[in-house]
Amino acid sequence: MADTTKQTGELDHTLRVYSDITQLIASPENPTPIVRVNGINPNKDFEIYLKLEKYNPFGSVKDRIVNEMMKGLEIGGRTVAEPSSGNTGIALACIANALGVPIQIAVPEGIPEEKKIFLRFLGVDLMEADDALCPIFPTEGARGMVTSLIDNPASKDTYVSPNQYENELNVQAHYRTTGPEIWKQTHGKIKYFFAALGTCGTISGVGKYLKEQNPDIKIIAVEPDSKDHRLPGMKRITGLDEDLIPTILDRSVLDDIVTITDDDAYGTAMEIARKDGIMVGPTTGAILHVALNFAKSHSGLAVVISPDDAFKYASFYKDVLDAESKRLKEEAYAMLEANKDSRNFVLLDVRTPEEFADGNIDTAVNLDYSSPTFRDELKNLDKNKTYLLYCESGERSGISTHIMKDLGFGDVHNMRGGIIAWRMRGIGETQATEENLDKVAGKTD
Ligand SMILES: Cc1ncc(COP(=O)(O)O)c(C=O)c1O
Repeated sequence: MADTTKQTGELDHTLRVYSDITQLIASPENPTPIVRVNGINPNKDFEIYLKLEKYNPFGSVKDRIVNEMMKGLEIGGRTVAEPSSGNTGIALACIANALGVPIQIAVPEGIPEEKKIFLRFLGVDLMEADDALCPIFPTEGARGMVTSLIDNPASKDTYVSPNQYENELNVQAHYRTTGPEIWKQTHGKIKYFFAALGTCGTISGVGKYLKEQNPDIKIIAVEPDSKDHRLPGMKRITGLDEDLIPTILDRSVLDDIVTITDDDAYGTAMEIARKDGIMVGPTTGAILHVALNFAKSHSGLAVVISPDDAFKYASFYKDVLDAESKRLKEEAYAMLEANKDSRNFVLLDVRTPEEFADGNIDTAVNLDYSSPTFRDELKNLDKNKTYLLYCESGERSGISTHIMKDLGFGDVHNMRGGIIAWRMRGIGETQATEENLDKVAGKTD
């Protein structure tokens, strides 16, 4: 087996041969990547780099702090207990499993099902608290459960907690690793750093390090606009009593605190996936949205922390996607009703002539998607018209929409759910007419 260390005793990150999984946790010698966002950011004078913390071995920014806190913890045969919205729990479970240490994790029940599954997968006996995703009181919810394990005379000798909300090693991890990595990776050119507030470890540690290198660097914090949010890991600080704010927050490094809505956070997370091919969690969407707003009126180099990836939030994204499909479907129907009589509007049925003859939406014309001449027939259509496409369930029309856009049609829409969804609304149908086909080609205009 190849030697895992250089002669100096440091890890050799060029060969990437390791003797245990924790050695993969990011450090200035082995940083997580920073990647420029392009498609989503029209302002080339404000370059935005995402620091992709998902490349840590347990999948999030929390790998760094758990590593640091576990090194500093006197475990003494006790069970390690910690409240978490998921990522700290997952990192803790992995590191504890690698060390052979028992753990207990408390989570708010509202976190995504995927995170609970992975914690159980890792062998964690999960405690679920019925608090919001924005844990407020150190004595209630998931935090309260762990506090009582630690304080209760019956269990206090059996449990010990790293307590990420009050542990200075949380801040130190970022001061020693995330901050120096960003400074080095940007060759000291960074002007803006964006991160969200949770335990406040990231912003306090990175903020302090960057301000020490260059006090002009602006540190922008992002928080949800209300405490009832769907952004696990983030916490609303504004309006909280001083004694409820994480003690590790270093306000002296903050230049601004900006609020964000769930809709903007999820919308931006989906947009970066669709425009840049980068799959991130919703909190990255939240932070990136704020940076993109800055891009409208600032210039310089910005780094946005991307705490984790999209996969652990599939069920949350599904809710948003279902709502999006419903909205697009309703928009398509509204467009149809409003434009039925407009000569500039074409309802295009891309099913086979047989399916079409079997029943179609009134005023629709038929161009068969499966025909070898489909593309050529599309080219004959009038590019100045508005097109609404449908098929049986929305798939063929979805692809046809892309083809038409590719051919230079500017105003093309897909009716999601196709004629199946249309029928479910109880709307009538009529047969196609020859005349309709002429209209579509612009012949009768
Ligand atoms: C998933 C996740 N965890 C944690 C945090 C917060 O980091 P910290 O606890 O260091 O404040 C964020 C912030 O955006 C996050 O998105």
